Amino acid sequence: MKINKIAYSPEHVARNHRIENRVNSAVRTFDKVMGRLGLGGRKGYYNDDTYEFEGGARDELRKKHYDKSLRLLWKAEEHADWSSFDDCTKEEQLLMSMAEKGLTRGEKTQRKRINSDEYKAFLNKTYTKEQKQAIVNVLSMIGHGEAYAWMVSCELLNEVRSTGGRAALTMQVMEEAKHFVVLRELIQAFEMPIPRLNAWEYVLLERTYKSKGLEKFFGMNVVVEGFALSIFGMMSTLPGLEILKLFHRDESRHTGLPHNYFAEFPMTAWERRNPLRAARRLSLVLPAIPVFFHIEADLAELGIDTFEFGGALARKVLKLADRVGFDVLVPTEPLAKLVNKGFNDYCKATRPGFVERNFMEAETTHGKEERAVEKEIFHLDDAPLAKKARVAAVA
Ligand SMILES: [Fe+2]
Ligand SMILES: [Fe+2]
Repeated sequence: MKINKIAYSPEHVARNHRIENRVNSAVRTFDKVMGRLGLGGRKGYYNDDTYEFEGGARDELRKKHYDKSLRLLWKAEEHADWSSFDDCTKEEQLLMSMAEKGLTRGEKTQRKRINSDEYKAFLNKTYTKEQKQAIVNVLSMIGHGEAYAWMVSCELLNEVRSTGGRAALTMQVMEEAKHFVVLRELIQAFEMPIPRLNAWEYVLLERTYKSKGLEKFFGMNVVVEGFALSIFGMMSTLPGLEILKLFHRDESRHTGLPHNYFAEFPMTAWERRNPLRAARRLSLVLPAIPVFFHIEADLAELGIDTFEFGGALARKVLKLADRVGFDVLVPTEPLAKLVNKGFNDYCKATRPGFVERNFMEAETTHGKEERAVEKEIFHLDDAPLAKKARVAAVA
């Protein structure tokens, strides 16, 4: 290639480079010393010598959580055509209209593109006011949770090591942003009052956000996102809420992230079992249990027993905590039994003719795909809770 070079003085350039070299040695040494003394030092957790973030490339993490997310990336305009989103490219819009042309008349009626007013009319025709309010009450818990997931994943992005780890968290930040804005519009379409965070969830989310370092993985990716995954799995088969399948798919990757991350950068035995940390994890989970009592009436309106939902969720989240290696001070099996006993005692006192049962065996995720995803994430075939799963995760 012919390029007209610009004239310069090689001596001066060499001198400039020598000066840069000395300044570089000085600032790097200063930062190293300050870092060793714990007085600051380099803030960027990045190694420009190896052209990698600290922790190396870790391509597996990138492939599982960044590349895969890009492959499964969904656009709100395509899946919630009634929404105000305008996130499809011209090519994607063309593909959508071509795909629609290939549909039979019956399929076309099913896949009729609807605007926001038509969507609202559909919701009004399908649900009673009480049902709409119940859906809004339950979904808004996750809606508020998405705001925290966005904030927490932003912070975790600067806590994880390796290029693959950062790529994975970058994608989670992007997906949480999408979840927050799309879910808000979906909830607003119901045109019912949207409640604030309930106290139990507020405490859980705030304490998760305040968790130190990678402990955020426990509060957010295991507990809160396990909760969100279960809600999406429970509601994605309701008419008009099919888009929640896509949220479910994203959340399954988020709940799988701590296990994959710690496979690359294992927690030490002390980090897993440190009694103070384990007690804090337990103290994070226990105050969240009243949530199931709080949403009892809303779930009942939708034909769902809150304790079936709570039992299924507790079983899944405790299994996931075991699998990732997060100790919660007491073995998870007796903990699950204790929660089940609490649910049963309450039902005995409040439901005439109630027959004692094991809520931990319930399943409230309905969709076939969603069940398959959860089976993989939570290792639902493994039994019993505790020990076995932990041994597998550590090995
Ligand atoms: Fe989310
Ligand atoms: Fe998430």
